[in-house]
Amino acid sequence: MLITLDEAVTHLAKGDIVALPSETVYGLAGLALDNKSVQKIYALKGRPSNNPLIIHVSNLVEGEKLATFNELARKAAALFWPGPLTLVLPKKSIVPDLVTAGNPTVALRIPGHKDFLEILSRLGQPLAAPSANPSNRTSPTEAKHIKELFAEKCPPTVDGGKCTVGLESTVLDLSGKHPVVMRPGLITRVQLEKSLSSKVQSLKSSTLECRNAKNKKLVLSSPGMNPVHYAPITPLSLYSSVEEFLDSDCCIEEDKIIVSNEEDCKVLYSKGYSLTSLSTDGCPQKIARNLYATLIEFDKEESKRIHLIFSGVTSGINCAIMDRLNRAKSK
Ligand code: TXA
Ligand code: MG
Repeated sequence: MLITLDEAVTHLAKGDIVALPSETVYGLAGLALDNKSVQKIYALKGRPSNNPLIIHVSNLVEGEKLATFNELARKAAALFWPGPLTLVLPKKSIVPDLVTAGNPTVALRIPGHKDFLEILSRLGQPLAAPSANPSNRTSPTEAKHIKELFAEKCPPTVDGGKCTVGLESTVLDLSGKHPVVMRPGLITRVQLEKSLSSKVQSLKSSTLECRNAKNKKLVLSSPGMNPVHYAPITPLSLYSSVEEFLDSDCCIEEDKIIVSNEEDCKVLYSKGYSLTSLSTDGCPQKIARNLYATLIEFDKEESKRIHLIFSGVTSGINCAIMDRLNRAKSK
């Protein structure tokens, strides 16, 4: 059911869950400081309770009530908020353990979507909002995807149009000795290094240990750690060039083919294949914007297999696209 901003505020204030548009992907929102609301989010998503949620605030003053900002965090917030950057910072005691899954840190961002911002400021309370997909499915980038993903369990949804970024936010951990990108996104590691004038590492290991308030070792669940986090239901084969795809010789007629640029498109058209292109010019922002919608569409069509040819360079925002594609491909 589509709802207005007023209705969304009413639902949320009562402790109910609604799906909201953000510039990255749609989020499944509920009151962050209310355990009952947060519990509803975990339950509807089918998300394990050891995987913490991002909290969204409307301004920095609200953010500073929830987390301890150091100089670097303030700089990052000033440069990139509202926007697709999530900061992981030491949490303040006002933040319940449920929303951070027992971690001593909290993930925060100010979203760059006018509807989300308006709801936050009308509500005057922070909202927890993971991506609005059942756990391990593709994140929605249009309001209609939420209905397609949740069917009869679909939460009331604010339709804020197509997400302009199309990939989840960059997650930057500023709680340790060195800044670490835990999940790549539109804002790249190199861009962060330059603008923060600080070395920024990327998360390499598949598990990251941290300690909770009682100094007990926790294995932190983060998107970088779940290899099937962004997978469509349809098996997906990933190729780095048209040649690799043609050599594999394993595409049958009912399969779907996705390419990332016009050149690859032309080569395959000339060989009689029908296909979907994520962009005409290989522009990474356009590819990012169209990727999830295309995968969700093919899941709906119950395709046998998706063959995705991504021949872009693996730097900049393409790192984030490759990160998601590597998780989306069948193991
Ligand atoms: O773009 C986005 O970030 C979207 C929109 C709705 O804001 N949200 C989103 O949330 O992608 P989610 O929950 O699907 O992904 C956030 C990830 C989680 O997988 C979680 O592991 C990680 O951020 N995370 C949350 N809190 C954390 C914390 N305290 N420490 C480390 N990672 C954390
Ligand atoms: Mg998610």
